[in-house]
Amino acid sequence: MEIWHVRGGNRLFGSCRVQGSKNASLPVLAASMVLPARSQIRNVPQLRDVDAAASILSHLGCRVERSEGEICIDSTGVNCAEVPHELMAEMRSSVIFMGALLGRCGEAKLSLPGGCQLGKRPIDLHLSALRAMGAQIDEEGRDLFCRAERLHGADITLRFPSVGATENIMLAACAAEGRTTIRGAAREPEIVALQDYLTSLGAHIAGAGSDTVVICGVSPRPEADFTVPGDRIVASTLACACAAAGGRIILSGVKPDHFLTVLHFLNEAGCDIIHVNDIVEISSSGSLRAPGSIVTAPYPGFPTDAQPILMAALLRAEGTTQITETIFENRYRQVSELRRLGADIRVKDTTALVRGVKELHGETLTAPDLRGGAAMIVAALSARGESRVIDAGHIKRGYENLDDRLCALGAEVWIEHT
Ligand code: UD1
Repeated sequence: MEIWHVRGGNRLFGSCRVQGSKNASLPVLAASMVLPARSQIRNVPQLRDVDAAASILSHLGCRVERSEGEICIDSTGVNCAEVPHELMAEMRSSVIFMGALLGRCGEAKLSLPGGCQLGKRPIDLHLSALRAMGAQIDEEGRDLFCRAERLHGADITLRFPSVGATENIMLAACAAEGRTTIRGAAREPEIVALQDYLTSLGAHIAGAGSDTVVICGVSPRPEADFTVPGDRIVASTLACACAAAGGRIILSGVKPDHFLTVLHFLNEAGCDIIHVNDIVEISSSGSLRAPGSIVTAPYPGFPTDAQPILMAALLRAEGTTQITETIFENRYRQVSELRRLGADIRVKDTTALVRGVKELHGETLTAPDLRGGAAMIVAALSARGESRVIDAGHIKRGYENLDDRLCALGAEVWIEHT
């Protein structure tokens, strides 16, 4: 088990290059097998979920070579359409392989990871869209058996702009005959990244970033070269850490537009924010004020993944912050832990009221999940004394060397392996 130790109270100063985006890398890795090609993918973060995606690709018959920050995938030799349960269970978003496998092999056998962290995470939108494209899908418990003699284009309207469903449809549509239109599509930057990568593979695809994405086939290219964009949630985490602890940091390698809503609330809370091109500077006195009401929403709204982290930054902000979570039903798992540091948070249904306290004190906390774990670290940085975050292995699913990066900015963070 990993235990993170954080001694709070240090201000953060310096520059940090933000890692490549986990949530953009994973669908791009799955997409690398939709067509037989050799892809060079750059700026890929070294994370457990990326390791899991690489293992799935190898299992399916791809040649995968990794060097620091880069993955080279040769998918010409794909020879298997089944992802074993152990590999599926390692990464929650492995369902994205369903569209890719159906598109490439005409069949897919996979199972879904059980017991969810953030609440129910149904995949009905994925399934109904793929069925509309001609797939036959049988569900047996958590096993999925998918088959399609021939996928065909379809006009699909999503009742909710699901990121994963939009990605799955885009992947299947590349191998389908005819034109696929996704209305009510997710507009996240990760969808734009997937479109850019698929375009480099020769796909005819347009509209990502808007609510309508159109895919009409491919003119396959043998090689693709793609650079993953910076991770907007990691950038948000570092910005929130600086806001809470005080200091002045400069983030590079990430587009400010991708996390503008987070920067907006930090600015409302009293931080100075300057951004030019791919550089963002955040300055904070460490004394914040409550920025009003925050409601999570699909992009370009406030990201649910940043909700626990911004909450952690605002625990000492003067006044009351109201947070409403609209995406996941169980995304306040950080609250009971943050209270142990002395935070005053009340939750009723989907709304949390955070009343700023004068001081937080170090405690032993348990990381509930990936972003909840990051929230513990942000809060602990602004607490008096030392905190221990146990079960903190979750953090490495999404953050590459977060401990080193924070230390380089002046924080006192170290990891104990027990
Ligand atoms: C992706 C991100 C995750 C982020 C989330 C929302 C990755 C690897 N993960 O997850 O970090 O928190 O977007 O921004 O990119 N839903 C359905 N039926 C479906 C699919 C989804 O009801 O078929 C619901 C979900 O239960 C949830 C909401 O839609 O309440 C959002 O889910 P979705 O956008 O699909 O998130 P993911 O793609 O799983």
